[in-house]
Amino acid sequence: MRAVWLKGFGGPEVLVAGDAPDLVAGPGQALIEVAFASITFVETQFRATGAGPYPGQVKLPMIPGNGVGGVVTAVGADVDKALVGRRVVSATGGSGGYAERAVVDAGGLVEVPDSLGLDSAVALMADGRTAVMLIRAAGLRGGERVLVEAAAGGVGTLLVQLARAAGARVVAAAGGRRKIELARELGAEVTVDYREPGWTERVREAVGGVDVVFDGVGGTIGRSSFDLLDRGGRMVVFGLASGAWTDISDETAADRAVTLIRPRPTPEELREFVETALAEAAAGRLRPVIGQRFPLERAADAHTAIQSRATIGKTLLEAR
Ligand SMILES: NC(=O)c1ccc[n+]([C@@H]2O[C@H](COP(=O)([O-])OP(=O)(O)OC[C@H]3O[C@@H](n4cnc5c(N)ncnc54)[C@H](OP(=O)(O)O)[C@@H]3O)[C@@H](O)[C@H]2O)c1
Repeated sequence: MRAVWLKGFGGPEVLVAGDAPDLVAGPGQALIEVAFASITFVETQFRATGAGPYPGQVKLPMIPGNGVGGVVTAVGADVDKALVGRRVVSATGGSGGYAERAVVDAGGLVEVPDSLGLDSAVALMADGRTAVMLIRAAGLRGGERVLVEAAAGGVGTLLVQLARAAGARVVAAAGGRRKIELARELGAEVTVDYREPGWTERVREAVGGVDVVFDGVGGTIGRSSFDLLDRGGRMVVFGLASGAWTDISDETAADRAVTLIRPRPTPEELREFVETALAEAAAGRLRPVIGQRFPLERAADAHTAIQSRATIGKTLLEAR
């Protein structure tokens, strides 16, 4: 089968398409004919340095990729045969996603609702799961002012919609006009370009301060967002797209009566978050924004686009 290999850490060019051995579903496993594989921002960081959320996955060479969707074509001897032919999404555990086929734990498969395209389902697999988790963790109340960083990104576009649906007043912060226009289309009340100096002043003029920050960028943007929180606010910390976590100690937060929230979900909760995201999309209440599609062989180009901040919404690899 065709796959994309990572043979050493470095720039996007270390992702090289090639052949990989055919896969067989072992006990407890399912074989998926992959239609789409998702790329998340953190995979670009992992590719560059090996750092990231997949401990034990750094033996090279490897096939990267954590989110896939397609049709089940075979299952292990002990697995329910009725799964064969079903449209599913699944996490791979961090390796094996950028390929024409993937073997996954059959217990982790999530069926895709009939009315939802596989591309939309794959777009929601990781980002939807994460966004639902973050919204729940924040415990939003109607009328709260919510700042979403990287609001035109994979997770950000979903956070904007889910926060709005929860009755929040959404302040979307992103880099560049095209991105803030997208956030406005998705329901943001206030949009600011945080590449421009004085962006926090524009937030203050529009809404005073904020009650909740969704911080997936970190660094100086995360710090500025923290400073916008009113006393008693919450900061949900989940990423460092800028390269650094937001540097705020628990003591500094406590001085401002701000709660720092770092969700630690169980596998069962994660599954439920995926199912919720897919169900919301199937019902037409959540719109995954698929901004870019690349053929599997061009995974390196997809990584280049993502890490240079040129993408909006989700980036998918098409495996067939
Ligand atoms: N996807 C998931 O399921 C998941 C799970 C857990 C954690 N996270 C974290 O959530 C954050 C968003 O993830 P995502 O996959 O949805 O990515 P994304 O938002 O689609 O892409 C990252 C965005 O971060 C912004 N950014 C700010 N400073 C940047 C910099 N110095 N270099 C590059 N980008 C920069 C860019 O948007 P602007 O141009 O608008 O600034 C960029 O588009 C990441 O920190 C990620 O690690 C994601």
